[in-house]
Amino acid sequence: MQIKEIRPIFTAHEVAARIQELGKEIDAMYGDEPLVIVGVLKGASIFFADLVRSVQNPEVELDFVRVSSYGLSDCSSHSVVMNKDVEIGIQGKHVLLVEDIVDTGHSLQYLYDVFSQRGARTLRTAVLLDKKERREVKVHFDFVAFTIDEGFVVGYGLDFAEKYRHLPEICILEFE
Ligand code: IMP
Ligand code: MG
Repeated sequence: MQIKEIRPIFTAHEVAARIQELGKEIDAMYGDEPLVIVGVLKGASIFFADLVRSVQNPEVELDFVRVSSYGLSDCSSHSVVMNKDVEIGIQGKHVLLVEDIVDTGHSLQYLYDVFSQRGARTLRTAVLLDKKERREVKVHFDFVAFTIDEGFVVGYGLDFAEKYRHLPEICILEFE
């Protein structure tokens, strides 16, 4: 597939401003209670790094998971596997999963199911982008930075074939 254009839809400045708002919402939700913020590698890495620095809660701990999803485009079967799990204990603590984008919903639903069985005090999700077009499973959102209807998005951690993650703005990739 030939790339025609990489068109910014949210500037670095807009993203930064929105993340400050989310940080305030997260502080309002948890106060000073023990909170483990779990970033989903690799796509959420940059969002995660900015989001956690907008949170004031002194009881925050950070950890990461990595998942891979194998979706077949012509059928609705999806399998998601965890390639890396968290390393710190979450029992009795609040857990906030931080994901880059929710598309079909299968990846976040999988993580939500896995973590909901681990004795966390509460389980919530923070998502950079809620992309509505191809949703197949209803997922539970608590904090959403931006909503888009459709399109393939890159930048600010999101990739196309591992490229464009480093772009500071969120862009739509236009194909020929
Ligand atoms: P799901 O379809 O909701 O399970 O999303 C699976 C994963 O596909 C996301 O976590 C992203 O890593 C990736 N993904 C979905 N849509 C996009 C996109 O527009 N750009 C880049 N990656 C995407
Ligand atoms: Mg992802």
